[in-house]
Amino acid sequence: MKINWGVIGCGGIAFRRTIPGLVLSENSNLVAVMDTNFEAAKAVKAEFNAKYAFDTVEELLAVEEVDAVYIATPVFCHKDQVMKAAAAGKHILLEKPMGLTIEDSIEIKEYCQKQGVKLGVGLMMRFNNLHQTVRDLVAEGKLGEIVSMRAQFTCWYPEMEGAWRQKMALSGGGSLMDMGVHCIDLLRFMSGLEASEVIALTGNQIFKYEVEDAASVVMRMENGAFAYVDAAFNIPDEAAVCKLEIYGTGGSVFLEGSLAQDEAGEGTLIFTDSNKGYDAQQNRTRVESTKLNGNGGNLYTKEVDAFVNAVINDTETPITADDAINAQKIVEAAYESAKLGKLIKL
Ligand SMILES: NC(=O)c1ccc[n+]([C@@H]2O[C@H](COP(=O)([O-])OP(=O)(O)OC[C@H]3O[C@@H](n4cnc5c(N)ncnc54)[C@H](O)[C@@H]3O)[C@@H](O)[C@H]2O)c1
Repeated sequence: MKINWGVIGCGGIAFRRTIPGLVLSENSNLVAVMDTNFEAAKAVKAEFNAKYAFDTVEELLAVEEVDAVYIATPVFCHKDQVMKAAAAGKHILLEKPMGLTIEDSIEIKEYCQKQGVKLGVGLMMRFNNLHQTVRDLVAEGKLGEIVSMRAQFTCWYPEMEGAWRQKMALSGGGSLMDMGVHCIDLLRFMSGLEASEVIALTGNQIFKYEVEDAASVVMRMENGAFAYVDAAFNIPDEAAVCKLEIYGTGGSVFLEGSLAQDEAGEGTLIFTDSNKGYDAQQNRTRVESTKLNGNGGNLYTKEVDAFVNAVINDTETPITADDAINAQKIVEAAYESAKLGKLIKL
């Protein structure tokens, strides 16, 4: 069985990443594409051999053979488009963040449940094999008790006329909402831990648009571990590393370059003997480390394949609304903390 797709929003991520990945998915057909910028829709139709291009959502949803839609529009459009797609009985793969607010995201989730359509969220970095390997190692207890985690994801995003991400009412937030959400999601995913408290700083260090260009968040996780997230729009891409680190009583993992739009990155894994006593020398000569490599697969084909399998087999989508809502709760708590100058309990 194949799933016939419609795409709503043919801009950046859809054109550059997800549609090229989708057309490689064995159980998927790209049928219809739509963008309010009709030229963008027509360009995608021509490039990827879709049957139809439209400039209204209603026309796309009226195509009966469309089973599922991928929504990759600015965040402020998501709720209305999900509601329309769910009302039309289409399954939905929705880009992150789900909605402008937690209330919107919950409404989206509940309406899709009511309509009996599948809803998945595009936190596709979970499909990087490095992140899955670390998740398995942590789950098997190989790193011992997790005590500290860090994730950093940045880009260079200067002021630009008409950029929806730079307007609060259109994006819901800045670097934390847009990029930090991947960090938060991956730390939760790899550690299997939820946050219990959040404290944060946000600011406009370089760029003076409405949303923050930098955010730093510290979370206390449910087991007592601390987790640090940095998300910035003001670090030049050439100067960025985008690291992920997890430290436990049995070892540590360092990943570089895996927080990315393609399946990239490499890592180092160190196991230690947590039963040994105090070492006054604090010897950091590492006896043994193992290299980990991203396998260069296509994150988006994996994302689409996994979603399609959930539709075909009528199982839960691989990345659920609750996964996205739990990450968004931390984002909102961080904004509240930064505004009030207070620690927020979740
Ligand atoms: N998963 C990821 O790593 C990742 C990466 C980038 C973007 N995204 C998400 O994807 C979504 C889109 O981001 P982008 O960077 O592709 O944005 P973009 O601005 O590059 O593209 C958005 C497209 O939507 C179109 N559009 C605007 N309003 C519309 C409407 N009402 N109906 C239909 N089309 C409309 C625009 O014309 C544009 O072509 C956002 O939710 C963003 O957070 C996710």
